[in-house]
Amino acid sequence: MVSLLVTNLGELVTNDPTLGDGPLGLRRDAAIVIEDGRVAWIGDAAAAPAADERRDAEGRAGLPGFVDSHAHLVFAGDRAAEFAARMAGEPYTGGGIRTTVAATRAASDDALRANVVRLRREALRQGTTTIEIKSGYGLSVADEARSLRIAAEFTDETTFLGAHVVPADREPDDYVKDVCGEMLAACSPYAKWVDVFCERGAFDGEQSRAVLIAGRKAGLGLRVHANQLGPGPGVQLAVELGAASADHCTHLTDQDVAALSGSGTVAALLPGAEFSTRSPYPDARRLLDAGVTVALATDCNPGSSYTSSMPFCIALAVREMRITPAEAVHAATAGGARALRRDDVGRRRSPTAPWSQWAKAGRSARTAPASVRRRRCSRPDCDRSSWRP
Ligand code: NIG
Ligand code: FE
Repeated sequence: MVSLLVTNLGELVTNDPTLGDGPLGLRRDAAIVIEDGRVAWIGDAAAAPAADERRDAEGRAGLPGFVDSHAHLVFAGDRAAEFAARMAGEPYTGGGIRTTVAATRAASDDALRANVVRLRREALRQGTTTIEIKSGYGLSVADEARSLRIAAEFTDETTFLGAHVVPADREPDDYVKDVCGEMLAACSPYAKWVDVFCERGAFDGEQSRAVLIAGRKAGLGLRVHANQLGPGPGVQLAVELGAASADHCTHLTDQDVAALSGSGTVAALLPGAEFSTRSPYPDARRLLDAGVTVALATDCNPGSSYTSSMPFCIALAVREMRITPAEAVHAATAGGARALRRDDVGRRRSPTAPWSQWAKAGRSARTAPASVRRRRCSRPDCDRSSWRP
């Protein structure tokens, strides 16, 4: 095992306000020791332990690895024509998801895996050390289970999104029954979370509720694609059922903001989607001012968000969403960790931090199904980095 000591950091973001300035817990004159590609120690440079190698950061900042709490990486094909139509004035409706479903079903396991490897590497190069990966382009028992099996090779943060849209050849209520029954049973051994696209044209409030409750009964934590294309019941449902996150949150009423405020549900904002679909951005300031916990994530997918880059999402958020650079960095690290109910990533771990209150409303990493917990991935691009001071 080779250890590396990084010194001369301009500042170090700990995300632990007890350790340094502001919500980022900024420390100066700090150092980091990395062992086996993971943070093994942080502290004052003067107290740094000896290491095999040294690197001078030349005044650059040190940050926790980005936590991307929302990504759809298991897919095949592309939707360039849909993008071109959108840039010519067509709105994004989510209808193109079925195009990706057809390409994904036709792809081999190896082709799907290669796509995840490509995007995971791209994300890692840009600082993402923890990533959530959803299914949602299989939409049959076998294809959803296959997608999640592949996703689980790369991350513990796997999400069953059989309720992405209703396949073209299925009747909606009948399909929801399958999602809640046979499909969930086949997928839950590989999934930690269940998600639903609660939106006009996808699943309504009652259908979404049925999917989430069935997922919860199967031992999964809850996440919701909510209020992306218009106002709707998604956010309220997410809060009512104690979901870890309501994702998108683009069209919110005052009641939605009030519901999120004081709840354990994180608002995960996905500016890559607004950028790629040329839609209005969500208002982060409105949420932050109401005391809502905000996460930033990429939503990387072939239809509505063409980026795996958390730095790009931070830049978009600062430019378009009334959030400061410091708040955006916090949302992309500690916020993402909260959205995944993780206390071992996105920040300097501190035994005194009040993380337990967030774990209560849902499943923490430690309560993932044994089948998920047991799996240990040997891939070098797998996300198991964490702050371990
Ligand atoms: O989060 N909105 C639903 N799901 C994805 C888009 C999927 C697609 O268009 O392929 C999203 O934006
Ligand atoms: Fe999404």
